[in-house]
Amino acid sequence: MTPDQVGGHHLQSPVGPSSALTAHDAGAPVSSEPIAPTVAVPPVRSTIGASLAVVEPDPELRDQLCVSLGEGVAPFGSVEELASRLTGAVPVVAVLGPSCSDDVVVDQAGAVVDRFPMLGCILVTEQLTTALLQHALRAGVRDVLAVNGGLQPLVEAIQRVSATLEHAPVAVAPGVPVDDVPTPPDAPAPGPEFHCGQVVTVFSPKGGSGTTVVATSLAVELARRSSRPVCIVDADLQFGDVSVGLKLAPHHTIVDAVAAGEGLDAALLESLLVTHEPTGVRVLPAPLEPAYADQVGAADLTRIVETLRTFCDFVVVDTPSYLNDVVLSVFDVSDSIALVGGLDIPSIKNLKVTLQTLRLLGIPEDKLVMVLNRSDSKVKLDVAEVERALQFKAEVQVPSDVCVPQSVNRGEPVVTHAPRSGVAKALVAMADRYAAPVESRHKRRK
Ligand SMILES: Nc1ncnc2c1ncn2[C@@H]1O[C@H](COP(=O)(O)OP(=O)(O)OP(=O)(O)O)[C@@H](O)[C@H]1O
Ligand SMILES: [Mg+2]
Repeated sequence: MTPDQVGGHHLQSPVGPSSALTAHDAGAPVSSEPIAPTVAVPPVRSTIGASLAVVEPDPELRDQLCVSLGEGVAPFGSVEELASRLTGAVPVVAVLGPSCSDDVVVDQAGAVVDRFPMLGCILVTEQLTTALLQHALRAGVRDVLAVNGGLQPLVEAIQRVSATLEHAPVAVAPGVPVDDVPTPPDAPAPGPEFHCGQVVTVFSPKGGSGTTVVATSLAVELARRSSRPVCIVDADLQFGDVSVGLKLAPHHTIVDAVAAGEGLDAALLESLLVTHEPTGVRVLPAPLEPAYADQVGAADLTRIVETLRTFCDFVVVDTPSYLNDVVLSVFDVSDSIALVGGLDIPSIKNLKVTLQTLRLLGIPEDKLVMVLNRSDSKVKLDVAEVERALQFKAEVQVPSDVCVPQSVNRGEPVVTHAPRSGVAKALVAMADRYAAPVESRHKRRK
């Protein structure tokens, strides 16, 4: 192995002008402040198990990228040059620079990835268009990021790709029979051809009732109990706040999924999800601006949900507090609809109207679960009175607790922020309706 061979530990440390990329602190919102040349950047290479390469034909851009990523990055002028250095024996993450934002180069990178499964490519581009994103993801590039999106998303993407490469099969050397290629011991068993996860939609006919709090914690609790992914779709298309509630800075949103049109399949959709690392919940975020809400129609949403359920155990859908064709269409494909209300007359009135509407639409009542939030509030109205008025049992009763706004403000789901609170216990019990608790599943196995 030559000193600059990718996978070796003697990679030349590039030196060059300061970065054109932008940086922001971990967890902070994306900013467009350029990295100051004097700021010491911790080498990304030291935080990942894979070797790190930069492919960029423009020498100045290449140097800038390398400097941004810190020490230990191997620079290459072309995909061919990178390919000639790969051994296939060690995982390599390659960052393709802005000059690689071209279908031909992206296809070349895809062909190299086919030959070397231990290679993961991330494209950094000046103009992140849906066409480029779609082409790159289809070619086998793992992620596509905008160059002005900041350094932190790139570092996170590198870490994510590196983590998955640890399980990639080793490249087949010429003359070695395919059967002799070792399989990672913990490689997941191939799944069934078709999977149909449950869709649980959470809705309230009155804003601020706690829909997002319930949907988020339900998804987190279901993820703890599921072997396949659990996804939360933020279908509050104008003011969705699932990402904010989980402290996520999404690169892609539901609008990208819609823009893929007929090309949308499970693989493309999965690549658009952002993972909430502490819990593993996958999120399809709402549009970043209300103006984009119109781009998501009823048929788009149902198609997205139907595609998600092919690889997820649960798809939890958070909704806005009004009924429109988008919300009604998602009701149609839901296995369960959680109706969230509170102990106040407007909320009860709206719930009553919603129940009547759902009956008219022919949605079976056994699909509905009534969730009374802040059910212990001393407001001269009790749960029994609400149940009598609605002719419906409130099967889930969530108390009022200051830990809820505290958890929201910290960007943490309440079930992990305050697991011993009455709120968390009620939401965990709600999850029992859909999936067996982890402990009792263990007991049953014995
Ligand atoms: N059980 C509870 N105890 C105390 N505060 C709560 C409780 N449930 C929700 N809240 C607070 O109420 C506010 C609204 O909650 P949430 O955003 O989940 O409602 P929503 O129905 O999704 O609202 P929107 O209509 O804006 O989407 C949040 O600030 C949250 O902290
Ligand atoms: Mg909400």
